[in-house]
Amino acid sequence: MKTIKDIDLNNKKVIIRFDYNVPIQDGVIQDDTRIIKSLKTLNYVLERASKVIILSHLGRIKSEEDKKNNSLKVVCDYLSKLINKDIAFCDYVDEENIINNNDIIMMENTRFFDLDNKKESNNDESLSKYFSSFGDVFINDAFGTCHRSNSSNVGISNYLPSCNGFLVEEEVNNLNKLLYDTDHPYVVIMGGKKVSDKIQVINNLVKKVDKLLIGGAMTFTFLKALGKNVGSSYYEEDELEYAKDLLDNYSDKIVLTIDCYIEDKTIKDIDNFSDNNIGYDIGSNTIDIFKDNLKDAKTVFFNGPMGLFEEGYEYGTKELCNYLNTLDSYIVIGGGDTVSAVNKYVPNNKFIISTGGGASLEYLEGKKLPGIIEG
Ligand code: 3PG
Repeated sequence: MKTIKDIDLNNKKVIIRFDYNVPIQDGVIQDDTRIIKSLKTLNYVLERASKVIILSHLGRIKSEEDKKNNSLKVVCDYLSKLINKDIAFCDYVDEENIINNNDIIMMENTRFFDLDNKKESNNDESLSKYFSSFGDVFINDAFGTCHRSNSSNVGISNYLPSCNGFLVEEEVNNLNKLLYDTDHPYVVIMGGKKVSDKIQVINNLVKKVDKLLIGGAMTFTFLKALGKNVGSSYYEEDELEYAKDLLDNYSDKIVLTIDCYIEDKTIKDIDNFSDNNIGYDIGSNTIDIFKDNLKDAKTVFFNGPMGLFEEGYEYGTKELCNYLNTLDSYIVIGGGDTVSAVNKYVPNNKFIISTGGGASLEYLEGKKLPGIIEG
């Protein structure tokens, strides 16, 4: 893969694509992880280039109304304070003039062009050329967007000397340790609601792991496939066959939930579930089994919460986060909800946190991400 060190930036006008798709509420950035993670590349480029032009998307733009709520201006102001430098904001009006007369420029949300035939998301050639006209060199450091083939991260690289930034390099190296030459015992913890969202990543990882611990609502699809009464808990009828096959083929590796916090916030064994019980979180016996499987792990990947933690069913996710933080293992956290949970329960953790939700999962599925620039 082509990295930032492979390209001459001196006195060049450098376009950098970051993923500043950050949660914003009432004009306030709720989580600045992606912004902080962009600083290494930004500072490196600022020391060398004559000019920096920043591109990013924010949210999904389907109407004029969406534009009002998804302006990057708030990110521009935040970043400007963070680096203590002026950043000119450009909404594509008089852009030549703005780019010529400023050293650091942030362009408005690239997805605003989606209102014109989804040009950005469809990797439109004319838009890619237009973005490329802003500078001499292109760096993609938007790891979280690497699974998308858009004009501002993929198409543009056809028209300029291009490379990956430090974050893309770091994320790929981190995830590679979960795919190749992994230190064993290797344990993957999967949670969240739907098996259907994770089938490909499970298929790719199950061959490599020593144990696959399954919590969250997705555990009920597996339990149902085993013939257990899961009461009125959520499960996916369409995935029962898949779950059964996986259990048949990897019974020695897969560890399922044995007890749950149910609707009245008490713990009940799965074997005692009645028809109206609903499992919302994993119980203490399951946590003990999960800890036992994790205690000697050298490598761990944790993706998907153990319960509905944002609605008060916090026990399983919190307990697991705290326990993982006591281990001396290589631990990667992936997925938006899991990252939020980890930041909430163990803010000063020693985990490797991936900034890419969909991008990380697709990478771990074994797919080639279109946004990663090859050498
Ligand atoms: C993300 O947050 O996962 C990335 O920024 C990609 O966003 P998207 O799913 O809207 O393409």
